[in-house]
Amino acid sequence: VSLRPFNTFGIDARAQYLVHIDTEAALLEALRQPQWQALPKLILGGGSNMLFTKDYEGAVFRIELKGISVVQESEKEVIVRAGAGEVWHEFVQHCLRNGWGGLENLSLIPGTVGACPIQNIGAYGVEIKEIFESLEAVHIATGEKRVFSHAQCAFGYRDSYFKQEGKGQYIITAVTFRLHKKHENLNVSYGAIRDVLAERGITNPSYLDVSEAVISIRQSKLPNPAELGNAGSFFKNPEIPLAQYEQLREQFPNVPSYPVNAQTVKVPAGWLIEQSGWKGKRVGNCGVHHLQALVIVNYGGATGAEIKALSEQIQADVFTKFGVTLSAEVNFIG
Ligand code: EPU
Repeated sequence: VSLRPFNTFGIDARAQYLVHIDTEAALLEALRQPQWQALPKLILGGGSNMLFTKDYEGAVFRIELKGISVVQESEKEVIVRAGAGEVWHEFVQHCLRNGWGGLENLSLIPGTVGACPIQNIGAYGVEIKEIFESLEAVHIATGEKRVFSHAQCAFGYRDSYFKQEGKGQYIITAVTFRLHKKHENLNVSYGAIRDVLAERGITNPSYLDVSEAVISIRQSKLPNPAELGNAGSFFKNPEIPLAQYEQLREQFPNVPSYPVNAQTVKVPAGWLIEQSGWKGKRVGNCGVHHLQALVIVNYGGATGAEIKALSEQIQADVFTKFGVTLSAEVNFIG
C-alpha cells in the first residue's frame, strides 16, 4: 500500500501492511495478530512530522481512535479527554466552541491528539506540557494499558519520554488536558499575536480571538500541507552555550536569540538557514520555503531521500558558516 495519503510531505513510500485502528479492542487484536507480531511496527497519526526515506518493511498502524469527553468540570476548569485519533485542530476548535481555553495558541498545527505529547508540540509561546494532564497508552510488547502522569512524560523542548527511553514502546490511545474557562490564562507573549489583535482593535481578547490571530499568522507564512507537501519545521531551534553565542554575536551582530537558562540560549534555525542563503531555494523537486526558512517543501514528486539530501546540505552549510549543528525535528523513517 502507498503511504502517500498518510504523510503530509506527500512522499510515495510503501508499507507491507496498513492497519486502520479505530477501537482499543481492534488495537489489542492487531498486536496479537501472528502475521504482524514479528514485524517492525510504525505508529502513525496524521503523518505530519515524518519523512519516509524509503519503503517501510513492516506494519503501519494508523491510529483512528475517536471521542471527546469531559472527565471533570468545575467553575474555573475542565478536564477533557480526547481519543488519540482526533484531528488536532478540530479538537482545538471543539474546545474553543465550548469556551475552554488553553489550546488557542496551538491552533492549526497539523497532526493528531495522540501525536502531540510525543514531541510536546509548541507554538506562539505555549507548549502542550502547560495544559497536559495525563495520557493513556498501550505497551506494544505486552498489550498492557498504562496511564502516564505529567512527570512520567518527561517533557522538554520538542521532546518527551516517548522520543527517549520510551521510543517505539507504546501506542498512545488518549490524552487528557486541563483547560480553563475564565479567559484569564491567555498567552499573548508572542509579538505577532499582539500585532494582529491591535490591528483588529481587540484590547480584551477571548480564547477565540487569540486562536484567530494564530491562524492568520500561520496562514501568512506556513505552507498548507494540503497544497504543498511539508512537515512544518524541519529542524529544531538549536540550543547553544552562552559563550558560543557571544562569540557568534561578535561576528554576526544581528543573530537573534532567546534565553533558555543562565548558560544556554536558543538561536532560531530559520535565521541561520536564511543567512546561509537557502531561503526560497529549490533543488529538484524540493526546496526551502520562501516565507519560512525552517520549512522544507515538496513541490511534487520528491522522494524522501531527495529531501534528506537537501536537509544535509543545509546542515553542512549552516555548520560551515556558524559552527552550529542543526538537528532534525522531523522523524526519519527508513
Ligand atoms: N527567522 C528568520 N528567517 C526565517 C524564519 C525565521 O530569520 O525564514 C528568524 C526570525 O528572527 C524570527 C525567528 O526566526 O523572528 C522566529 O521565527 P518564527 O516565529 O517563525 O518561529 P520559529 O522559531 O522559526 C518556532 C517553531 C514553530 C512555531 C513557531 C511559532 C520550532 C522548531 N519551530 O519556529 O513550530 O510555529 O516557533 O511559535 O521550534 C513546527 O514545529 O513544525 C512549527 C511550525
